[in-house]
Amino acid sequence: MFISGMINFFRQQATAALSRISDIKALIGSYDCADKGNQYRNLDTAEGHTMYTYRPLTADDASCWKELYTIGAQDFPLGFLMTPAEVDDLSLEKCRSVLDAGGMRGVFSHDALVGFCGFRRFMPSRVRHRGEIGPFFVKREFQGAGAAQALMAGVLAEAKDAGIKQLELGVAQQNHRAIAFYERRGFKRYGEHPDAVRDDGGEAAAFYTACSFLSDRFVPHSRR
Ligand SMILES: CC(C)(COP(=O)(O)OP(=O)(O)OC[C@H]1O[C@@H](n2cnc3c(N)ncnc32)[C@H](O)[C@@H]1OP(=O)(O)O)[C@@H](O)C(=O)NCCC(=O)NCCS
Repeated sequence: MFISGMINFFRQQATAALSRISDIKALIGSYDCADKGNQYRNLDTAEGHTMYTYRPLTADDASCWKELYTIGAQDFPLGFLMTPAEVDDLSLEKCRSVLDAGGMRGVFSHDALVGFCGFRRFMPSRVRHRGEIGPFFVKREFQGAGAAQALMAGVLAEAKDAGIKQLELGVAQQNHRAIAFYERRGFKRYGEHPDAVRDDGGEAAAFYTACSFLSDRFVPHSRR
């Protein structure tokens, strides 16, 4: 009797704790990538699912964000406007104030930040239907593993909820992997920005900008 009472007590506590965790995940938005047709590596072997969490970054994330930004700018200079030296020069205080401004989103795996995306809405009333994303980056170990998909799904869902109709970005013409990723998610090339970025030698690199129309037809979680 006593033992079965104890078992029931612990069962109730465990159920309550699990439901609190689901509530928190529902609030901050989490994306289960198990439904992507097995094309992503399973990182969470216990359930055979890869679970990522998406949320806005805050000043408290400043040091891990800077660390990740530094890795990104060093490993993928094509994917960032800032040079590694410029990222390195960012003080922790500056990082805190950038994140405090509310324009950065992160994707987490097991509480570790593995990717981030800048997300801004244009403010004047005549362009409030437009938003802009970038930089967009996930750690090398998480590329091809669904983290970028979870990050993009979070941003697209947020943009759509906010009534943004058109999301824009700039990407280097030579960044074939990123272009494939964006185009698969409905972004369409609409123009080229000549002389958009210059490297040390003064060479011009063309960028193109793409946008996704967030109509009701758009389903952030599925492949096109
Ligand atoms: C861009 C980025 C976020 C995409 O995330 P990811 O996890 O690598 O994306 P995915 O693996 O889901 O998709 C990449 C696609 O490009 C394809 N791809 C890989 N290498 C490629 C290459 N060299 N050329 C063309 N396509 C390539 C992949 O096969 C995949 O397509 P598929 O799913 O149809 O097979 C990530 O690679 C990244 O952080 N890159 C470095 C930073 C960067 O360049 N950011 C973009 C700034 S605009």
